[in-house]
Amino acid sequence: MTEQLATNITWHEGEVSHAQRNQSLGQKGATLWMTGLSASGKSTIAVALEQVLLQQGKHAYRLDGDNIRHGLNKNLGFSAEDRAENIRRIGEVSKLFADAGILSIASFISPYTADRDLVRKLHEDAGVAFIEVYVDLPLEVAESRDPKGLYKKARAGEIKGFTGIDDPYEAPTNPELHLKTHEMSVEDSVRALLECLQDNNLLEA
Ligand code: ADX
Repeated sequence: MTEQLATNITWHEGEVSHAQRNQSLGQKGATLWMTGLSASGKSTIAVALEQVLLQQGKHAYRLDGDNIRHGLNKNLGFSAEDRAENIRRIGEVSKLFADAGILSIASFISPYTADRDLVRKLHEDAGVAFIEVYVDLPLEVAESRDPKGLYKKARAGEIKGFTGIDDPYEAPTNPELHLKTHEMSVEDSVRALLECLQDNNLLEA
């Protein structure tokens, strides 16, 4: 748990509730948390989902691991501590987007169960919906895709602590949705995500 360093601070309650924000947008803000190995398809599926949701008049926004590491989290590396801080910060950011009424699509490897569970708890405590999506495929398939050539580098010892090679990926045991991207097209995954949003009653206020 991250230590609270700031003192003499007081929570200032607003006049607008999460439910009222949802009402004004005609949907329910939520975090869709996509976790999985590098090259599992998280970002590709997130991009496609965001586009379909916007076409349907919904308000969605994508938070992507590689992108966030260019800005907000540019001072973090890939040690267990830095990954935990990466996920903690983005979990807080995604919760804010979702609280604002947005369908926030976060795609991060987020390899450690404890870090993901902390993000789930942040949402539960705030009364904001959280959907964990396991973007799953066998490591061999991820390695054969290798769009950025990173698995090759990791196998050659040029990247240390690469998830799936010499750093662990702890698979979710009870995700709300399980996508097997070696058996499903991107369109299949987007359809499954839309169904999941529908089943959870998130596409209406
Ligand atoms: S996480 O583990 O902290 O959740 P995140 O999703 O933000 O990772 O970033 C993963 C991206 O960083 C990968 O898609 C890859 O491009 C890059 N990367 C660089 N080094 C590593 C590494 N050691 N392990 C995993 N991904 C890495």
